[in-house]
Amino acid sequence: MPYSLLAIPQWLFLKGKMCGIVGYVGEREALPIILESLKRIEYRGYDSCGVFVLENGDSKLHKDAGTIDHLKENLSESEYLGGGKIAIGHTRWATHGGPSKKNAHPHLDGKGEIAVVHNGIIENFQSIKEMLLSQGCEFVSETDTEVIPHLINRSFKKFDQAVNAAQIKEAVKEALSHLTGSYAIIVAVKGFDGLVAARNESPLIIGVGDRENFIASDVPAVLEQTNRIIYLEEGDIAVVEKDSIYIENGGAEVKREEKLIEWTIGDAEKGGYEHFMLKEIHEEPRAIMDTLRGYLVEEEINFGVDFKVEGDAKGKSILMVACGTSYYAAMCGKQIIENLAKVPVQVELASEFNYSDFVLDGTKVMVMAITQSGETADTLMALKKAKRYGCKTVAITNVLDSSATRIADETIYIRAGPEIGVAATKSFIAQLVIFYLLGLFLSKMPASEFLEHLEELKRMPQIAQMVLDEADINIRKHAGYLSKYEHAFFVGRGVNLPIALEGALKLKEISYIHAEGYAAGELKHGPFALLTEDTPVIAILTPDNTYEKTLGNMKEIKARGAPVIAIAEEGDEEVEKYVDEVIRVPETSAIFSPIPNTVALHLLAYWTAKARGCEIDKPRNLAKSVTVE
Ligand code: G6P
Repeated sequence: MPYSLLAIPQWLFLKGKMCGIVGYVGEREALPIILESLKRIEYRGYDSCGVFVLENGDSKLHKDAGTIDHLKENLSESEYLGGGKIAIGHTRWATHGGPSKKNAHPHLDGKGEIAVVHNGIIENFQSIKEMLLSQGCEFVSETDTEVIPHLINRSFKKFDQAVNAAQIKEAVKEALSHLTGSYAIIVAVKGFDGLVAARNESPLIIGVGDRENFIASDVPAVLEQTNRIIYLEEGDIAVVEKDSIYIENGGAEVKREEKLIEWTIGDAEKGGYEHFMLKEIHEEPRAIMDTLRGYLVEEEINFGVDFKVEGDAKGKSILMVACGTSYYAAMCGKQIIENLAKVPVQVELASEFNYSDFVLDGTKVMVMAITQSGETADTLMALKKAKRYGCKTVAITNVLDSSATRIADETIYIRAGPEIGVAATKSFIAQLVIFYLLGLFLSKMPASEFLEHLEELKRMPQIAQMVLDEADINIRKHAGYLSKYEHAFFVGRGVNLPIALEGALKLKEISYIHAEGYAAGELKHGPFALLTEDTPVIAILTPDNTYEKTLGNMKEIKARGAPVIAIAEEGDEEVEKYVDEVIRVPETSAIFSPIPNTVALHLLAYWTAKARGCEIDKPRNLAKSVTVE
């Protein structure tokens, strides 16, 4: 096996991340520039935001829950002309602490003289916070970020005297040396006419201007002002003043090349991808990694959730309720949890559960609502109904403080980051990761087996990345072929049946090809009547206990004249005897095969829709979040 089983690959940390940060230092009024820049990267997070402006020896902090437009509306005309030429700003996708005014960035030290905006997750913030509290620091937010300005203050001994760039840089460096996790930060300090920026595992760029400079998480934030970009590298710390940029790494000055960007702002928002959906498919390895990181420390899984259900332990089971893509994730989750934990799981469409005469013993069943947005009306109703039955409830969602989290007793976040494309992609795969973690967490398997599974799970970001790197070209070719048809079937069995259903849903949502997902063994009980040379069948052919049977099904399908494209593992030569074309995915054990198969099917749907010239990010008649029944 060419990949390390346990190592968390560093390259993953170089990719996209939630939250957006910006900074400006120059001769113009900073506030409108910062607000405009933030607006350009609102796709990185939009639940709360804030700015800190240095103004004639003084400072101003404006922040609130909600969007940049909301923040702007509450600023008076005079604030725009306050004279401040240095500012930092943040647009948030909450991870620690709900989206509220107090948790919005920038965060300040106790004296209100050091302001920090941060993108990333400080993993050891709790222990640092305890240490700082014991030294008398006071905290006003629940965020991980707030420890940073306090640490900088603590390390900046001569803060009562005039401050200079070198001192501030050293104080920031000292503070950062305490942190583990990921960060891109920008620091503003009262009395200093510049900004300090640093990055570790989260992106950060400098936009180079004329007697002004910009700092941001991402290029679109600054592209309207300048197309001269310096990409900071891992471990860089930069002191940015209006006429100078100094960058240091590992204690020594480094030169970073300035690049001329020729993208439009629209291209840049999508990270150079033509659509958010493609960008988000490419963020799937990252979504897997972030979700794992949220709950897995070395060999220990911890959700911080009390899973106990009243009553007889032997009778315990889980009921999952969900809609759309989340429903298919739940179907897959059922198989994953039953396989790993041997805990019975039932899955219901929320819209059906709500109006059925369901027999449910609230003392024995835990109800999990699977919902990316946390706002789907049917799913929220199902949660409320479960509570009426007296069930313990858990929301599994991507959005902090969403309605589902307020209704459910407990919440598990999937940490996929904001998903903009209407068709869910990275959130689906992050939901699967939660089910693997849950399955292992609830299992009573021997330690050696547990570790073996855990090691394979840790490899999933790489496996997903391999599909993106190695299978994409082949998938594009097959998408070109598929795009010419008006009907298609997707088939799979076992843990890959829900993946076939998800593949079909994704294709119909964005390419408008009529696609049906079916259990591979079920086509013969009806749909065979529809099979012709004009109905391609996409078959998931993972080697598991159903493999031989599914190959038999392929024979039957081909006998009816339908062309078959298989999704099969590298090295599986047998499959070629039964199908017309093969999309290869990396080898995994059967239980983990939904991960590579999902990435392949998401790409297939995307490239097919692209070949048909469809409007991919906003398919007709669909909404990202359906808040009516
Ligand atoms: C809408 C979206 C789907 C999504 C479903 C459930 O129909 O278009 O992509 O799967 O809602 O959304 P949820 O946020 O509850 O996962």
